[in-house]
Formats: sequence, C-alpha cells, structure tokens
Amino acid sequence: MKAIVVVIDENNGIGKDGGLLCHLPNDLKHFKQITTGHTIIMGRKTYESLPKGALPNRINIVITSADTKMFPGCIVVRSVEEALSVSENHEKVFIIGGGELYRSTLHLADTLYLTRIHNTFEDADTFFPKIDFEDWVVREEDKHKADDKHLYPYTFLTYSRK
Ligand SMILES: NC(=O)c1ccc[n+]([C@@H]2O[C@H](COP(=O)([O-])OP(=O)(O)OC[C@H]3O[C@@H](n4cnc5c(N)ncnc54)[C@H](OP(=O)(O)O)[C@@H]3O)[C@@H](O)[C@H]2O)c1
Repeated sequence: MKAIVVVIDENNGIGKDGGLLCHLPNDLKHFKQITTGHTIIMGRKTYESLPKGALPNRINIVITSADTKMFPGCIVVRSVEEALSVSENHEKVFIIGGGELYRSTLHLADTLYLTRIHNTFEDADTFFPKIDFEDWVVREEDKHKADDKHLYPYTFLTYSRK
C-alpha cells in the first residue's frame, strides 16, 4: 500500500507559516494509529515542522538536498524515486507531506487518508493539489462534531483508487 495522509480544509489548505492550520488532537491520534509500525515519507520542510524530529516507531524517510546530518533518526534521500526504491518492500508506506511532496506523489498513491476540517482558513499558505474524486471511492467515513478540544467539525475519510 502507498497511501497519502493529509488533513485538509474546505479549500485544500494544509498549512501556514511552516505549521498546521489548527490543533486537532483526535487527528494526531488517528495519524499515529494508522502510521505506527510502518514507513513514512516526508519533505524536508515537514520534517522541520516536527517538534521532536523523527517520529518514533516508524521508519522516517526525508527527501531533501540538504546535509544528511541534519535529520537524525531518518533515512535521507534525494528524490521521490529514491524514497520509493528504499521502501519498495515495505508493506505500508505513508506519504505525509507537505504540499510540494503531495504534488509530486498524489498520482502514485493507491489510498488516501484524508481528514477534512469543515472550515476555510483564510491565512493558509500551503495547499494540497486538486483531487479528482472520479478517481477515488470512499471506503470509510467518520464524522465528528466540534467540541471543547476541536474548534471545527471534521471528517475522517479513507479513499481507495478506483
Ligand atoms: N495538513 C497536513 O496534513 C500537512 C502535512 C504535512 C505538512 N503540512 C504543512 O505543509 C507545510 C510544508 O509543506 P511544503 O510544501 O512547504 O514543504 P515539504 O513538501 O514538506 O518540503 C519541501 C522540501 O522537501 C524536499 N522535497 C519535497 N518534494 C520533493 C521532490 N518531489 N523532489 C525533491 N525534493 C523534494 C525539498 O527539500 P530541499 O529544499 O531540502 O531540497 C523541498 O524544498 C507546512 O506548513 C506543514 O505544516 C501539512
């Protein structure tokens, strides 16, 4: 399985100022649950957004042209092709962002774990590419209302490529 994991607003916004659009604790749990024990591939800027560096209990692959020493605990590669070659025999591979990496890998993914935040963030500066929903079928859908820990309603969606 080659999956993309993303949390996205109603306008395909995914980030601002190098970070996420808002704090959704349940989405962080969901992300941890689906990716733990597997391989994650990320762009250099997404690595830099992680507060404690490489994520534990996962094989972390970072794509960058920067010095490999800057990414402790990670496998450093120079291209998407190299990332896929390194992970080719891994059972589940998750592409976890950001915008630049999603743009160059959406067409390669067979599964899409999409958390839709039901809000539009006017200050978003990073976006997910346009999704052609004709290409995808919804396998799971799990809606959540806003609550004291989640400012906006959100939906966990899992799509498979048709
Ligand atoms: N909402 C979400 O689910 C989600 C998930 C992840 C990230 N984000 C957000 O997205 C933002 C970061 O995204 P971004 O688009 O600015 O950066 P990014 O994709 O995380 O990283 C871009 C960098 O990664 C390397 N890279 C990425 N794709 C490459 C490719 N195809 N070939 C070669 N190198 C590649 C390059 O590194 P070098 O410059 O070092 O060569 C490039 O400058 C942050 O705000 C982050 O919080 C949101």
